[in-house]
Order: sequence, then structure tokens, then C-alpha cells
Amino acid sequence: MSIFDFKDSDALGSVLSVDTTVVVVRVADIDRLRQLQVNRLAVLESSRPGQHLVGIIQKITRSAATPRARSDGEIGVGAEEEVAPELNLVRIALIGTLVDRLGEQRNVFLRTLETVPEIDANCYAVEGERLTNFMRVIASIASDGQRLSLGCYTLDDRAEAFLNGNKFFQRHAVIVGSTGSGKSWTTARMLEQVAALPNANAIVFDIHGEYQTLQADGIRHFRIAGPGDLDQAASLAEGVLYLPYWLLGYEALVTMFVDRSDQNAPNQTMIMQRAITRAKRAYLEDGGHRDVLDNFTIDSPVPFELSAVLDELGALNAEMVQGAGGKEKQGDYHGKLSRLIARLENKRSDRRLGFLFRPGADTMAFEWLERLVSALLAGSQDQVGGTGGLKIINFSEVPSDILPLIVSLVAKLAFSVQQWTAPGRRHPIALFCDEAHLYIPERVGAGAADDISVGIFERIAKEGRKYGVGLVVISQRPSEVNRTVLSQCNNVVAMRLTNGEDQSVIKRLLPDSLGSFGDLLPILDTGEALVVGDASLLPSRIRIAKPSHTPNSGTIDFWDKWADVTPVGAAAEAVSGWRRQTQGAAA
Ligand SMILES: Nc1ncnc2c1ncn2[C@@H]1O[C@H](COP(=O)(O)OP(=O)(O)OP(=O)(O)O)[C@@H](O)[C@H]1O
Ligand SMILES: [Mg+2]
Repeated sequence: MSIFDFKDSDALGSVLSVDTTVVVVRVADIDRLRQLQVNRLAVLESSRPGQHLVGIIQKITRSAATPRARSDGEIGVGAEEEVAPELNLVRIALIGTLVDRLGEQRNVFLRTLETVPEIDANCYAVEGERLTNFMRVIASIASDGQRLSLGCYTLDDRAEAFLNGNKFFQRHAVIVGSTGSGKSWTTARMLEQVAALPNANAIVFDIHGEYQTLQADGIRHFRIAGPGDLDQAASLAEGVLYLPYWLLGYEALVTMFVDRSDQNAPNQTMIMQRAITRAKRAYLEDGGHRDVLDNFTIDSPVPFELSAVLDELGALNAEMVQGAGGKEKQGDYHGKLSRLIARLENKRSDRRLGFLFRPGADTMAFEWLERLVSALLAGSQDQVGGTGGLKIINFSEVPSDILPLIVSLVAKLAFSVQQWTAPGRRHPIALFCDEAHLYIPERVGAGAADDISVGIFERIAKEGRKYGVGLVVISQRPSEVNRTVLSQCNNVVAMRLTNGEDQSVIKRLLPDSLGSFGDLLPILDTGEALVVGDASLLPSRIRIAKPSHTPNSGTIDFWDKWADVTPVGAAAEAVSGWRRQTQGAAA
């Protein structure tokens, strides 16, 4: 039976004007008008039998007959105005079609608009039992297969809200909201469902170590090695991650070592390139990797000895050559590389960068990269030793100035691996980018490290779909996240946003026809989201359900802590931690 079995007498009113996706309906009965609410659903008769058009109410206006000046100059209601009816209008944005019967199926909702309503077609409000039935249809279609459950609809809290898990990750997504609006909880809810799939493959860039509390089968935790790890022989199997310098692309190495403002920068860059190429070549020759040697470039992921590069730089910096008349003179680069060498040595001895420059000896093995890729980028079923398709990487001990370089290094690793896998054998991977404004910033040109990171993420945003790399960009400041990356995201999960600039960036990502839907952004409750996009059948307001393991959001209850009389006594620990550059274990 059709769920929209309206009788003519149920009609609110009839269509006054029709645009491509917006319809204006005139309502005769003022009591009916009063019962309507913006952002709820309405249904219109289609020109095709057995179909109804579904829309969202955007605007309700009542214009009383306005008193006009009478010819004698007095204000009043003239005879003709007295009979002029009120003009009560409802503007509706069309979002889809409900077909009573499609082949074998009954009551099918399609996100297409094959027809538009005719002038004078009837319009009905969707409330009560009809709303419940309609939402049930939505939930049951959405739950065909790839269902990613978020919570329930604000429209009808008995209807569970699902997203299509294929479409959500295929065409990228953003999760935005002001601080404390519930992004991390929403992310955690998605992550636990991803992790439960038997062959999941996803990486979370956990910048503050918030997701350490997510513990389940299918979840593996990694931590970028901090200064405190350097003297212990912790390894990949224990979840301590080293990312040796040789994994960095040539551009990234130059950014790290060459000071662009130095007058010798071009020379230094050129020499670096030469020295690194030579060191990589030497590594390949020593290992007898002829096949790689033939096609290798400076960016090939091949280990090299940093000390060899330093030696070469040192030699050039001190070089004396045969001058005219047999006298010795200074070489071309004599003394010009001192600053470069100093920077290089500084970085090499910086304990905070130990994960780059003091990785274990095993990371210099040719086969090590394969082990890293299998641990970080393979699905659950392909991993050797320790499994878990969802990999949460804790970046909290990475210094903030090189965070973009390091996060994008992992992202690039994921993209390159997909790119070099034969199309039929690619195992799709999703990258959850929490606090994305920190490493995919909008202000390009601010720093070379940012430029490199933005370049990599832009590439993934544009081409990732073809290679099976999905991005989920998570940020509290969407206006500070790179626009190109944002505009490639076809799914928006927007939580409460109070800042005007952030709101306007997100409103621009919503379809024009939805107009006022975005006005809800500042008034959403904590844990409530507007969900729009490919993966969602209806643009909807959803109350996100609580994840079973909540992330460690670090909300501190100031007043309660201040009211508590037990001493905390953390001063000594803090100072020693600061000096050793490791955070004390949480009590
Ligand atoms: N779905 C929800 N239902 C109920 N309460 C929630 C929900 N989501 C979040 N909260 C509450 O809001 C708090 C903050 O949530 P969360 O850590 O997810 O915010 P956030 O958006 O990630 O903030 P930040 O940008 O600062 O990381 C939680 O500690 C919890 O108390
Ligand atoms: Mg958060």
C-alpha cells in the first residue's frame, strides 16, 4: 500500500509557482499554515501517477492584506482590500521522488526529480504516522548493504539514520563543528563500525592522542616514537613507529635542511640533490639491486646513509682546488655549505626528531619498507603478526612545525602504494584527518612544509577516488582548511558551528536549493549534525548516537577540580617531563 495515500481534503494548498527545484505553495487555511514548521517534510502530487515529490519546507510567510492609502488620504481598509484574500505562502525545496511501485518493490525513494509538480497540484504535510512510515522506507533502503549507522533523525527519533558506506568514503567527506560540538564522538562512532568489518583498511591521524581509548578487535594503535622511546628497542610490532628520513621526498628534505632565505640556498639545494642521489645509488649498488638502479629517481623510496651525505657536504665545504699558476685556491663551494651542515647536524641530534633521524638499524634494510606498508596500509586479512584494519596513529609527540611534513608523509605513502598496485588488487583505504586545519591549511605559501602537505592532500582529494583512497577531513575551523580539498568532499557532516566565517564556508558546500538549511548550524545541540551529500538519502538533521568507547576529549571540569581539596602535586613531574620531552604517564 502506498504510504502517501492522501485525500484531496488533506491538502494544505496548491502549487502557485514552480522552479527547477523550488516550489511555492499557496495555503488557504490559516490554521493549517500555523501547524507547519520550517525544515520538516512536505509532499506534492507529481504529474505522473503513482509518484509523489518530496521536499523540505524552507520558508513560511503570511502576508495580511495591507491597508492602502485611500483616495482621500486617510489610512484604512478599502472595500476591495476587505475582500482580497490573505496570501499565505510556503516555499519547498524538492529533494526526491517516492515511487509507489518500482518493479517488485513498493514505496521506493529516489533522489532524482524526473518530474516537477504542475501548477495547482496539491501539497500535503508529512506528519504523524505517514512521517514514521516514510522514515522507515528511508531507513530500510539505506540499510540495504553498506550501512553506516549514525544515530536517529531529529524529525522522527524512531527512525535510525544510515549512511551509504560506499558513497561516504568514495567521494570524500568532512566532519566539522566548533570545539566540543561532538566531532570526535561522531568519528569514534564511525571508526568502531569500520573496525568491525572483517577486512577493514583505514588510518586515523590522531594529533592529540584522543582516540587511544578506542579498544576493540580490528583496531591497532601506533605511536610516532617520542624522545622517551629512543633508548628502548621498541619496534613496529609494539606499535612504536619510526619514519626514517629516507622516506621523506626530496622536496621535504630540502625544506627541512635548507634555509630559503640564505643567499646560498640555490647552491645548497643543488648540492643536496647531488649528494642524496649519490648516497641512494651507493646503497643500491652495495645491495646489488640492479633492477631498481635502472629506473631510480631522487624520490624513490630507497634508504641512504645520512652520514655519507654529510661527509660529501663537509668535503665540498673545505675543498681546495688547483688554481692558476699552481697555487691552491678555495673550491667553488668552500665555506658556502657551513650553515647547511650545521642545520643538518642540529636536526640529527634533536631528540624530538629521533623518529626520523635515529630509527633502529632495521629500518635501513631494503625489506623494511615492505614491513611498514604491510603494518600500516594493508587490510586486516593481509597483515602479518598483529592484525587490525583500523590503524590509529598517535602524532602527539611530533613537533608542530614539522607535523605537516610527517602526516603528509604517511598520506603519501598510502597514495603511492595504491597507485603502484594493479587496479584489480587495490584494497581501498580511508584516511581520517583529525584537526585537518593544522596540516591541510588554506593559507598556502605560508610555509614550505605546509605547501608540501597541501599538495599531497589536494592530489588525494582530486584523484583518490580512482585509486581507492578516501579522505575524511575533520576540523573545528573549516575556514582554515584548504578550499580545494574541502570542495572535493561530497559528504558533509556539520555539527554546531558558531563562527560566521566557518558557517559560510560550510553553507557553500551545501546544495543551493537547500538554502536556509544551513541556518541551523549555530543552533544545533551537542551531538547533533546536519548530514548532506551522496551518502545520505535525505538532507537531514541527525542526533548522533554515543559510541561504545568514547574518545578521550580531554574536557576538564574547572569548577569541580577547583572545588576538590586533594592536592594534585604534579609540578615536579611536569618540569622533569618538560626537560626530558616526554609527558608523564597519566595518573
Ligand atoms: N553524540 C553525543 N551525544 C551526547 N553527548 C555528546 C555527543 N557528542 C559529544 N558529546 C559531548 O560533547 C563533548 C565533546 O565532544 P567531542 O570531544 O566529540 O568534541 P569535538 O567536536 O571533537 O571537540 P574538539 O574540536 O575540541 O576536539 C563530549 O565529551 C560529550 O560529553
Ligand atoms: Mg575532537
